[in-house]
Amino acid sequence: MTKRLVVALVCVLFSVPTFAQRVRAVAPGGTPDAGDPLSGLSDQQRASFQAGHQQFAVRETVGTGLGPVFNGNSCVNCHDIPISGGGAPAFVTRIGAIIDGKFDPLTKFGGSVLQANGITGDTLTHRFQAEAPPPEATIVITRRSPALFGLGLVEATPDSTFADLVRQGELRGDGTAGRVNMVDNVVTGTQSGGKFGWKAQIATLLECHVPTLQTGSNSSAAFDRVTYHPYSDFLLHDMGSLGDGIEQGSATGREMRTAPLWGVRFGNNKFLHDGRARTLEDAILKHDGQGLAARNRFQKLSQANRTKLVEFLRRL
Ligand code: HEC
Repeated sequence: MTKRLVVALVCVLFSVPTFAQRVRAVAPGGTPDAGDPLSGLSDQQRASFQAGHQQFAVRETVGTGLGPVFNGNSCVNCHDIPISGGGAPAFVTRIGAIIDGKFDPLTKFGGSVLQANGITGDTLTHRFQAEAPPPEATIVITRRSPALFGLGLVEATPDSTFADLVRQGELRGDGTAGRVNMVDNVVTGTQSGGKFGWKAQIATLLECHVPTLQTGSNSSAAFDRVTYHPYSDFLLHDMGSLGDGIEQGSATGREMRTAPLWGVRFGNNKFLHDGRARTLEDAILKHDGQGLAARNRFQKLSQANRTKLVEFLRRL
């Protein structure tokens, strides 16, 4: 990855990206396949999608500026299942430490995202070591790369929608209300969904995985009041023991943003933020904190209904 790309990635992960900076990807509407541009894009938007798509797949070399340390030489190293723009069972290591009671991302040691490779070609005078967790790091965790499909629609969804979801969660009064992440400021609404005629069950089991959202009014037809199905509220939730200790923006070490379930069928037997679950059932059973009640409800389902739920998820 070139420095430019590293910077781009770091921006994506750690700053407040402007709408234009964020990666645009796919989604429903005219129901394009994962990885395809939305239908209804203007010629200009389509051209910029294609340009971004190409840049995403470029493999950088030392000649084009890769290194001296890096994680990958192309976005598709880690975002290509089932195709460019997807996720992968690829991981980055993140580090941190609690110093004087506060989270420190250990930036001076290369944190919070470590660069797992260094340029080591034979012709080089210097060899660059991959970064490794320093002894100062008391938090060393991995994160799996998520699919990026559909993020353009999430971005085109008004913040008020997500604020409404927070309020709806508070009204539920069952301790599962989420919080808007002040870094991403991405959020979400509620409706039931499901293909097996047991929508109510899904809705109560998966209250944070909100099935349906709608973008706001937009001058571009492709983003104008599009109904889409991310199965996420994009809110932060206290996940108890599932939290991995990394703090980011306003997110505490126990909080995680609800993972969207669209595209979970591409999960490649590695689920949850660090791929610790090998099956969807296992992923549900590893929920804790605000996800614990849903997990308990899942456990109480009959085997037949559990199987139905998992079959449903496999089609998202
Ligand atoms: C070495 C593997 C790797 C490479 C290479 C990589 N990513 Fe990622 N990407 C990840 C991981 C892992 C995460 C999740 C990080 C986390 O949760 O802390 C991620 C997260 C993201 C997200 C946030 C998605 C979301 O829903 O919050 C975006 C956007 C993204 N990557 C875009 C890119 C782009 C653009 C490139 C190329 C410049 C790139 N990535 C290269 C592994 C990678």
